[in-house]
Amino acid sequence: MDMVNANGEHVNELLQAQAHVWNHIFNFINSMSLKCAIDLGIPDIIQNHGKPMTITELVAALPMLNPTKACNIYRLMRILVHSGFFAQRNLCNDAQEDGYVLTNASRLLLKDNPLSVTPFLKAMLDPILTEPWHCLGTWFKNNDHTPFDTTHGKTFWDYAGHDQKLNSLFNEGMASDARLVNSILIDKCKKVFEGLNSLVDVGGGTGTLSKAIVDAFPHLECIVLDLPHVVANLQDSGNLKYVAGDMFKEIPASDASLLKWILHDWNDDECLKILKRCKEAISRQNKKGGKVMIIDMVLMKNEKMNGEAFNSTETQLFFDMLMMVLVTGKERQEEEWAKLFFAAGFSNYKITPILGLRSLIQVFP
Ligand SMILES: C[S@@+](CC[C@H](N)C(=O)[O-])C[C@H]1O[C@@H](n2cnc3c(N)ncnc32)[C@H](O)[C@@H]1O
Repeated sequence: MDMVNANGEHVNELLQAQAHVWNHIFNFINSMSLKCAIDLGIPDIIQNHGKPMTITELVAALPMLNPTKACNIYRLMRILVHSGFFAQRNLCNDAQEDGYVLTNASRLLLKDNPLSVTPFLKAMLDPILTEPWHCLGTWFKNNDHTPFDTTHGKTFWDYAGHDQKLNSLFNEGMASDARLVNSILIDKCKKVFEGLNSLVDVGGGTGTLSKAIVDAFPHLECIVLDLPHVVANLQDSGNLKYVAGDMFKEIPASDASLLKWILHDWNDDECLKILKRCKEAISRQNKKGGKVMIIDMVLMKNEKMNGEAFNSTETQLFFDMLMMVLVTGKERQEEEWAKLFFAAGFSNYKITPILGLRSLIQVFP
């Protein structure tokens, strides 16, 4: 039976509530501990070791470690074992020691993994991107576009245009995500590229996805449209061309527009403008057909959820908040997407949920 305190509150409920609050106060420690492990190169060190690595071996392999701090590495590893980035295996040696091994999640953070998520982590957890979270409350009361503007005095895109470090960090983060998406999209979705002769990758960054598309479909002419600071020094090659421009003003004519992780950066009015520019671009090229291909999230409904669905929804909601803090965008439910497509003059759409938390959405004129 629950004990009741002087205020008549159930002590167990009170302590559970306190634990819940504590857990959420310190949620950022998961992100920062992971960032630290990446800064120290721990996943690569364990991978290069080739077998389960004891704490003594790990400490010995860490470059530049201050000897007085070495005794704390096990504490960093303990929380990362808890959060699923490392596991422990018994070495079955005389001392019956445990050694650290990688998990699927930390394998995805290895430097040499072609699908490494590390550049994305480095971009997202850079202080330029995390500081604006402290201004979210202030932003709700002021007239600024975004908490990023409140913190840095300019939009995210302007900042990237003037700061080479953020520009590179962000472009590399996006390119790393594009590599992972390529590997699935091109394999699983060959059909969506059938019948197309040209494509514009709108806001296509440094062109990672487009390069993979022209490699897989050599007849396809592909244009990467992005802001001048992103595509400035990139060389055209074969069927791949870079165009510096503004997607709100004009998108080059083509059979299809590809918008990967673009529309979630923008509010509904801004998305309408982009979608209308896409529609003009495909109707200039292809009087009968053409389409827009969107890679973005479709927010799940908050119905009854098991553990995995709960985590997926939480991750989608993290992204939605991220879009509020950094830029003017948001994540959308299917109804919100449909409203946008019809308002921009499209007649039909098809959602294919092939990319985990994200989907391929094809939109037809
Ligand atoms: C979230 S990133 C996505 C990059 C790429 N599509 C990907 O998913 O890897 C958004 C991209 O939109 C570009 N962008 C922002 N404003 C733009 C504009 N007005 N015209 C063209 N591109 C723009 C940014 O420079 C950035 O490369």
